[in-house]
Amino acid sequence: MPAKEEILRLDRDHLWHPFTQASDYAERDPVVMVGGRGVRLFDADGRAYYDAISSWWTNTLGHAHPRLVAAAARQAAALEHVNFSGFTHPPAADLVAGLVEVLPPALSRYFFSDDGSTAVEAALKMAFQYWRNRGRAEKTRFIMVDHAYHGDTLGAVGVGGVDLFHRIYRPLTVESFRAPGPDCARCPHRRSRHTGDARDTGCALECFDAFEALLREKAPAAAALILEPLLQGAGGMLVHPPLFLQRARALASELDLLLILDEVATGFGRTGTLFAFEQAGVVPDLLCLSKGLTGGFMPLALTVATEEVFQSFYGDAASGRTFFHGHSYTANPVACAVGAEHLRVVRELGLPRSAALVLDHFHRRLKEFAEERWVSDIRHLGFVGAVDLAGPGGAPLDPAFRAGWRVYHEGLARGVVLRPLGDTLYWFLPLVVTREEVDAILDRSRESMRAVLDGAPR
Ligand SMILES: Cc1ncc(COP(=O)(O)O)c(C=O)c1O
Repeated sequence: MPAKEEILRLDRDHLWHPFTQASDYAERDPVVMVGGRGVRLFDADGRAYYDAISSWWTNTLGHAHPRLVAAAARQAAALEHVNFSGFTHPPAADLVAGLVEVLPPALSRYFFSDDGSTAVEAALKMAFQYWRNRGRAEKTRFIMVDHAYHGDTLGAVGVGGVDLFHRIYRPLTVESFRAPGPDCARCPHRRSRHTGDARDTGCALECFDAFEALLREKAPAAAALILEPLLQGAGGMLVHPPLFLQRARALASELDLLLILDEVATGFGRTGTLFAFEQAGVVPDLLCLSKGLTGGFMPLALTVATEEVFQSFYGDAASGRTFFHGHSYTANPVACAVGAEHLRVVRELGLPRSAALVLDHFHRRLKEFAEERWVSDIRHLGFVGAVDLAGPGGAPLDPAFRAGWRVYHEGLARGVVLRPLGDTLYWFLPLVVTREEVDAILDRSRESMRAVLDGAPR
């Protein structure tokens, strides 16, 4: 391995990082990470960092879990890769066998791809083609909600509602219908000071009328409604009550819209149940999974469809119903083996329910942020918590001050990896986090926040 200085030189001269303005690193090197154990990462100088964002929301069981390491090594030695058309293999069957036991029986068909965006691309194409297969060629568009984020490939960008990420690429995408979403943090009707878990707001779902009106108007031309269930991640860690999802499911069925639930971020325990949709007692027509599918170990994704969707594609080769979609690494055997083992470990540990006491503690500690004069909202769902940073009276901070960006660097200096979304500071914790680790993470985060904001312009 090259020495740290050489790694940084090569990085500076040749690498292009995601979601990164390279000029931000002109005078500040990225951290060279060389190890991970449990909820901590280790840099080339031996410094430890709590991974409070689970390495972009992927990690569930901590880094380098020995069972996952062993599963990867075993499978790599047996068969590292083979194309998945015409061939199948034991790890894919093993993973699907586990998932069939935890997902509703109505979701019976599993289509592999590589990451969250590709799981969404596949779902969008399936929804579009489903209606063609059924002779309803006029249903070509998608309905999404404000603040939605479903990935960075063009189809996913087309159903994205975060202008910072998506606006520039709009000319490249087919326009979707954008419905007003459930934004509890900014809800004019709410009766609570903070959002909490979105069931504490005194909500009567006043926002649903405008959402419903748009769906009723646009449904005839739309193939599907796509939602992030209960938690909109990249849009600002916004939480909403399960009732919204229940009513959205009923409305989608009534209006002949497929419901795509994107559980790329929420899946595999993060919201306190194995899948967020369980909390609403609904079942989607198409389900997108990735990130936690391998516990954050390897890239892998699934689009899971109902039998009805799958059957609409069934026909002879000349029927035009084939789903022409796939990727070179579809169902990579090593990734599937890790995914299967990951699910076994999660179930053996009784996660996420076995973490209930730690979660209570996490939520209690989050509420202490209400004492901070720079915090305008606090919200949480399972292992995810967020606070909005704001000025006096909740006024937005000057964007030029880049409070969130500064808190990120203060966090690194204190040994905690945060990655605020604008001025929203959030935590996306692994399922195995302990009370002591929650305390260490939140204490360091709070110190980082104070270090920045006590010097902020008012
Ligand atoms: C809800 C959701 N969908 C899709 C994606 C895209 O996943 P990926 O970055 O693996 O392409 C993300 C990524 O954060 C996400 O949060």
